[in-house]
Amino acid sequence: MTISQPMKGILLAGGSGTRLHPMTLASSKQMLPVYDKPMIYYPLSTLMLAGIRDIMVISTPLDLPQFQRLLGDGSQYGVSFSYREQPSPDGIAQAFVIAEDWINNAPCALILGDNLIFADHLSQILQKSAQQEHGATVFAYQVRDPERYGVVSFAPDGTAVDIVEKPPIPHSNWAVTGLYFYDARVSEFARRLRPSPRGELEITDLNKIYLQEHSLRVEPLGRGCAWLDAGMPDSLMQAGTFVQTIQSRQGMLVGSPAEVAFRMGYINAQQLRHWAGRMIKTELGRTLHAIADGQQGLCIAP
Ligand code: G1P
Repeated sequence: MTISQPMKGILLAGGSGTRLHPMTLASSKQMLPVYDKPMIYYPLSTLMLAGIRDIMVISTPLDLPQFQRLLGDGSQYGVSFSYREQPSPDGIAQAFVIAEDWINNAPCALILGDNLIFADHLSQILQKSAQQEHGATVFAYQVRDPERYGVVSFAPDGTAVDIVEKPPIPHSNWAVTGLYFYDARVSEFARRLRPSPRGELEITDLNKIYLQEHSLRVEPLGRGCAWLDAGMPDSLMQAGTFVQTIQSRQGMLVGSPAEVAFRMGYINAQQLRHWAGRMIKTELGRTLHAIADGQQGLCIAP
């Protein structure tokens, strides 16, 4: 009997953020603030909430040192961070080729550094997906502008039949979000891909390999969920307002890796207090301190 390895996770923070110029002329998009935290904290919290503790950040040679400075080795969150360069923007699926030796035949998830996902019971949904040993899981979300995304179409019985990357005439309004869970074959499958007409190793083509062997699960995210991408000035502002609204109204944190680390048992109250002490002049720091002292609700809101 083979004992399966724990799932690893890739946080992909590449791209040149051209739709956010001039904000991204000198800084990485995923470093920009979404209300009170750097954007990358949100997808990072999502991976950690899935139970993933071994995470590789992949970014451009120019931006990678910034992420290393921000996130360190992960010990403050009781997890481990590794870093690797994607020398040129050759597609999302290339991450699994770049990281192949590090993945080392473990199952592996990937989240895009500008994807923010909020949902009731998100931790259960994520942890279930992270525990699947065979096949892949992606999430679908209804949007008004599906032509900007990978679009999945369903048969009348709800099974996914096709995924098309940025179709000019979409067959549904279900976009595939930037969070993907794959089994241990992912690097082998990624190596089979060839660049698309836009010159990229497409994540949609990788998903299609799983779809063709009937091992792709497409989980619809319904009404109670918010999936935001913060890739343009309006959506960046909306994401910030969304986080501010929930945090100030409910007193709960959204997208705090430190809180997730504590709630998941990766760090203890003393470690959380120590971390909160570094930002005690902020509302975020004070809230983390209160959470460590057990004065804040038990609900996880990543
Ligand atoms: C990428 C994927 C697309 C997916 C989207 C989610 O698009 O190619 O399939 O729906 O992320 O954010 P891109 O960010 O390259 O436009």
